[in-house]
Amino acid sequence: MADGRNTDLTQFLELVQLVEDFYKSGFKSTRQAGNNIAELPPAELKVDRTLVRPERTAKLEELYQEIKTCTKCDLHFNRLHTVPGEGVFNPLIMVIGEAPGQQEDKIGRPFVGKAGIYLDKWLKAINVDRYTNCYIGNVIKCRPPENRDPHPEEIAVCLPYLERQLELLKPKFLLTVGRISSQTLIGSTKGIGSLRGGTYFYKHLPLVPTFHPSAVLRNQSLRGAVWEDLKLIRALMK
Ligand code: URA
Repeated sequence: MADGRNTDLTQFLELVQLVEDFYKSGFKSTRQAGNNIAELPPAELKVDRTLVRPERTAKLEELYQEIKTCTKCDLHFNRLHTVPGEGVFNPLIMVIGEAPGQQEDKIGRPFVGKAGIYLDKWLKAINVDRYTNCYIGNVIKCRPPENRDPHPEEIAVCLPYLERQLELLKPKFLLTVGRISSQTLIGSTKGIGSLRGGTYFYKHLPLVPTFHPSAVLRNQSLRGAVWEDLKLIRALMK
């Protein structure tokens, strides 16, 4: 009897959620499938229709299609998927990494491997996540073989995609993780150890560089510095 009542209640609550989803976003539910990253649905844009003009959505879709069929450098020969990025429009923070790794190449979503799970924890500590107020992307959209550093020519041909993403997504702050994205956007050849700890600007957008989560997973002594950088961006956000 008690079980029956619970089932009725669950069904009723699910119905209420469906109605709520319908009013918020049409027929397509925006609810997450679960907290486990492996259970999450494939890359999709979470669009807040109150903030986004339809033409921006269409242009971003167009850009994703262009990236999907891009053959501007040799990285396209070995890729399984392009990884354009994912998150929300008008993000508080746009996180910019280097390039997809093996896991990302397999499913076409950014930062879903060990480094990504760790990055999600960093972001959670400053009340940011890719489903509500953040967008996560990379300088390079295809996986370099054996995760080697991207070549300067590869960065040069891929960077315009990131620039177009920035124009369409309109983030308020940038967090670059790792040497490659930090050097590229800051326009410096200094190492990440020297670059981090300060605020820069990329086309008028405040930018905070920090270590790459993979580097911190390998070297836990970098954790303190990352926390300082996260506090720095959190202070800017306030
Ligand atoms: N490392 C990156 O820089 N980007 C990813 O998407 C995954 C790992």
